[in-house]
Amino acid sequence: MKTQAIQGFKDILPDEMHRWLRIENVSRDIFQRFGFREIRLPIMEETSLFARSIGQDTDIVEKEMYTFADKGATLRPEATASLLRAFIEHALHLKQPVQRLFTIGPMFRHERPQKGRLRQFHQLDAEVIGAKEPDVDSELMAMGAMILTELGLAASLEINSLGCPRCRPSFREQLIDYLRQYSKDLCPDCRRRTDTNPLRVLDCKKSNCRELVDDAPSILASLCAACEDHFNAVCAGLERLGVSYTLNRFMVRGLDYYTRTTFEFLTDNLGAQAAIGAGGRYDGLIEQLGGPALPGIGFALGMERLALLMEQNEEEKAADSMDLYIAALGERAIREGQVLAHHLRSLGVRTGIDYGGRSLKAQMKQAGRVRARFALIIGDDELDRKAAQLRDMTGKDQQEVSLAGDAPQAARTIHTIISSAPA
Ligand code: HAM
Repeated sequence: MKTQAIQGFKDILPDEMHRWLRIENVSRDIFQRFGFREIRLPIMEETSLFARSIGQDTDIVEKEMYTFADKGATLRPEATASLLRAFIEHALHLKQPVQRLFTIGPMFRHERPQKGRLRQFHQLDAEVIGAKEPDVDSELMAMGAMILTELGLAASLEINSLGCPRCRPSFREQLIDYLRQYSKDLCPDCRRRTDTNPLRVLDCKKSNCRELVDDAPSILASLCAACEDHFNAVCAGLERLGVSYTLNRFMVRGLDYYTRTTFEFLTDNLGAQAAIGAGGRYDGLIEQLGGPALPGIGFALGMERLALLMEQNEEEKAADSMDLYIAALGERAIREGQVLAHHLRSLGVRTGIDYGGRSLKAQMKQAGRVRARFALIIGDDELDRKAAQLRDMTGKDQQEVSLAGDAPQAARTIHTIISSAPA
């Protein structure tokens, strides 16, 4: 019997962690620069929350959720619904009229796994609740672009507007009329969607459907005056902030809660999984979920996709390193080495040691493997003299150091010597 993770679930191994930490550190820092505060949410919610927010007719709710039917609970497929549930439950709007919140963590969707598409994946998610101004939309996209730039990643930004409950229904009717004319040429999914969710036909990936929708009515030409003003102001804001973008009137997004602005950050370097992040406005959603009538907008970046792109950019593998490796020769040396390592670690020194009593050669090899800057060689002879050999692993210079005094004192002596060495 093989012991392995289930399909679509992936370990993040120590050699990959530097990328994940960088993604988290850079984005946390940028979120804070823009005034966002972190919120941590449970990974499970009542199933009905997702049906009410993401939409009953979406692929996510129809086929991709991990639901515990007997418990009425579902592993979250995205963070927005959970975050809004928490926002409403704790009446956060009473504390501050505009809330800027971010969260980082795993999401679950039962999709067909492939490069950049997992069943457990991670998102960096940012939401602004309580602000309707188009300048917030452009600022949020500029923040997403800043994260990507600081991670050294190139991406294009595509934007669209999906209108509002006032203008979308008439566009929907126009679109249905258009699609019905070509019903027999559409793929079976799109034929079904023509009546249930016609906007989804606009982003079908099948070539036949794509050609047909090329001449379909444009949602951007059907916006009401208020949505048009909003969209123009978003574009003007992006231009003011120097964020390049293109219009994509076919972008509809796979979640039903969007109104007005939607956007995606795309890359050419991940094959089929081109979207590294996406988001948009959801002005009616909070009220629909039983909360106050407040507007909202947000986006999420997919961390696996960011990490894959960073890996492609990496020239050499960055590895973790230790400050000091203690090579202890003999039982007494091992015991004293353990205590010394403990005090060095409490002084902040990354200290490696193993207790297997292996040869000096084997231990020095291990010191190299963990990329230790120094090795401290302790043998019985040296211990008799209250001393040890400190080897600089870069130049291979070796000097005798004193272990006089008790273990904390000896640790301080070594700490002082190694911290004054050039990096
Ligand atoms: P989404 O487009 O479903 O939007 O997902 C956002 C990002 O998560 C995608 O662009 C992609 O990078 C990543 N992602 C999605 N599914 C997978 C997967 N199976 N494997 C790996 N990465 C994946 C949302 O989730 C919305 N909640 C975004 C949002 C926030 N809208 C408003 N606020």
